[in-house]
Amino acid sequence: QVDESKEVESIVPSYACQRRTTLENHNTVFTDALSLLAENAELSDEDGRGVAFRRAAAMLKALHSPVTDLLQLRGLPCLGGHSLRVIKDVLENGASSEVEFTKQSERFKALKVLTGIFGVGAKTAERWIREGIHSLQQLQDSAHTLNRAQQAGLEHYDDLNQPVTKAEGDAIGEIVAKAVMSVLPGAQITLIGGFRRGKLTGHDVDFLITHPEEGREVGLMPKVVSWLESKGFLLYQKTTRNSYLESKDGPARPSSNMDRFERCFSIFKLPEDEKQGTKQTETLTDTCSLTTPSLVKDEGSESTKRANLKPWRAVRVDLVVSPISQFAFALLGWTGSKLFERELRRWAGHEKAMSLSSHALYDNTQSKYLRASSEEEIFAHLGLEYIPPSERNA
Ligand code: GTP
Ligand code: MN
Ligand code: MN
Repeated sequence: QVDESKEVESIVPSYACQRRTTLENHNTVFTDALSLLAENAELSDEDGRGVAFRRAAAMLKALHSPVTDLLQLRGLPCLGGHSLRVIKDVLENGASSEVEFTKQSERFKALKVLTGIFGVGAKTAERWIREGIHSLQQLQDSAHTLNRAQQAGLEHYDDLNQPVTKAEGDAIGEIVAKAVMSVLPGAQITLIGGFRRGKLTGHDVDFLITHPEEGREVGLMPKVVSWLESKGFLLYQKTTRNSYLESKDGPARPSSNMDRFERCFSIFKLPEDEKQGTKQTETLTDTCSLTTPSLVKDEGSESTKRANLKPWRAVRVDLVVSPISQFAFALLGWTGSKLFERELRRWAGHEKAMSLSSHALYDNTQSKYLRASSEEEIFAHLGLEYIPPSERNA
């Protein structure tokens, strides 16, 4: 046992961006428990605690075998006292009492249900819960006016809470590619987010769009959105210019082309036949009618599924447009996982005196931006071994 712990100790660096984390997780019993506590902390405005649990879970995900004894954890990084207590509880009792208690708490259940609505964050959910709103029905019965995003989120609640498959992601990729090619031939589309990391399902589908000629991507997003809207593919969309100037984690604005960075949060209407590869894009607007929201019961998914005869499904899609000069940074920044990204930025700041964002890498020591045209170059600038997307599942 002592030998084993020594061996494990020597192979786990403390930053997630120094580790290779595949989707093969030998410690799901612990990481599920810690992730739930992380989620609860994040939903309760306790981000510090949330990150601590996420880091502990990510470290365990990188281990090559199941943890069966607390002794094996000696010398491993990222494990605070609280996380260790949770792991100990699971090892000794098969489950963590804190996790079980949290799962059953009315507050956590309500937070989950309400933040499960697209457009509803922890703060809004918290406010509603204080007013006694714990369910979708109670929300609908309340006098609250919902914004456009929340209305769409409520309307498509069941669809949006059903995981998106890789096949659905690919089908949407074909539609997005068609849209982009129609409005700007020569533009390039890259699947990012969880699917780029090899995940089989996700909560949405993410795409990064660029053009090999700097500047040609300007104004692209509104055209893509118009094309998609005209074909009836969008149930909801909100396009925003980049928020780079306001962001706190990025370096100062490096040049005027920064405000070209655009993104679109959308809800796609994916036809069932499109999923099977038959294209009927031209008739979409005619054949698809709006269905009534299936929100009569909180957990009425079985009955609503049976009643759900619509020939399409709602899917969350994120589109990002980047100028080619920032493409590598955007690609790295939008591939995730969220914790991997956070750790990359922490590594850059704490270990290298650099500021990393999805736009650029700034070296504070040399007082200059470091250029890169590939993810490999960015890892090299950061003094990190290159980690491919499939091993960024921290
Ligand atoms: P699933 O969608 O559940 O499969 O997980 P995912 O890893 O794809 O997560 P998500 O779609 O939420 O985000 C994908 C990546 O985009 C993650 O690495 C996030 O850190 C990143 N991301 C999300 N929102 C923003 C944002 O506002 N700005 C930047 N720069 N990155 C973001
Ligand atoms: Mn995603
Ligand atoms: Mn996303």
